[in-house]
Amino acid sequence: MPNAQAGDLALLYGPDGKRFLIRLQPGEVLHTHRGMIPHDALIGTPLGRTVYTHLDMPFLALEPSLHDLLLKLRRASQIMYPKDIGYVLLKLNISSGKRVIEAGSGSGAMTIALANAIRPHGCVVSYEVRPDMLSLARKNVDSLGLLPYVDFKLRDIAAGFDETDVDACFLDLREPWEYLEQVRQAVKPGGFFGALVPTANQVIDTLTGLQRLGFGAIEVEELLLRPYKPVPGRLRPVDRIVAHTGYLIFARTPTLGEATLPAEGAPLANAVTIPDEPLQPESESDPPGT
Ligand SMILES: C[S@@+](CC[C@H](N)C(=O)[O-])C[C@H]1O[C@@H](n2cnc3c(N)ncnc32)[C@H](O)[C@@H]1O
Repeated sequence: MPNAQAGDLALLYGPDGKRFLIRLQPGEVLHTHRGMIPHDALIGTPLGRTVYTHLDMPFLALEPSLHDLLLKLRRASQIMYPKDIGYVLLKLNISSGKRVIEAGSGSGAMTIALANAIRPHGCVVSYEVRPDMLSLARKNVDSLGLLPYVDFKLRDIAAGFDETDVDACFLDLREPWEYLEQVRQAVKPGGFFGALVPTANQVIDTLTGLQRLGFGAIEVEELLLRPYKPVPGRLRPVDRIVAHTGYLIFARTPTLGEATLPAEGAPLANAVTIPDEPLQPESESDPPGT
């Protein structure tokens, strides 16, 4: 592990699990509830070791993960939670070299994860209608060195996207169903669409819009994350959890010109047939030893 340098980010993990994210600066001091740690005690030494406050309390000095950084992001909007972000990256098939558009930038949490995933050869174009939000998202993205991979555009996406044939589009804004035609124009046929909305009403409106425009492979999902107290002697879930972040909607884009308009009242093209019997988890139905 190379030595930590001035300007690097470090995560200090306290004995009670409290975390402090700092950017190392010569002469600076971190003040914690368990005492002080001078940044100079970390600069020029490798992370991944225990350092002690002036009260002799141990802190683990660590290189922060992207997960740590997202949770500590300066925010002025609701941000996407890491549990949702990780899954969305897989569902939208985001990887190095991909061209992705998103709206709105918000505080830039999703932008950061997208930029980190598509670098060094891909690009993210992030649309935001509010100048103050765009400025914060840009600052947050820049603070992690990811600005070269992101093109921010101050625009209401009602006016459309500049890009065409992109691999994927993700919408995290109030009325995604209003912009599905714009998405269809920008994403390549068979490309990936995703959206996050907090309420079921918004899911219904988005589904209706997706069906109307002929999007395929439509899915609605919700992820629940239940953290546990990591205590071997009395392992149990934590007392309070974030019970709801948002519903995730995914779909694949139709070929332009092939949009279908089902007649009013017609069954939805992508409706799921509910089996008579509840499905068994694969592991239970598989014969032993398979
Ligand atoms: C919930 S925030 C996005 C949070 C962001 N995904 C994150 O992880 O930090 C929604 C953002 O969408 C922006 N927005 C809403 N409608 C928009 C539109 N029509 N065009 C562009 N941006 C829009 C809002 O200004 C707001 O900043």
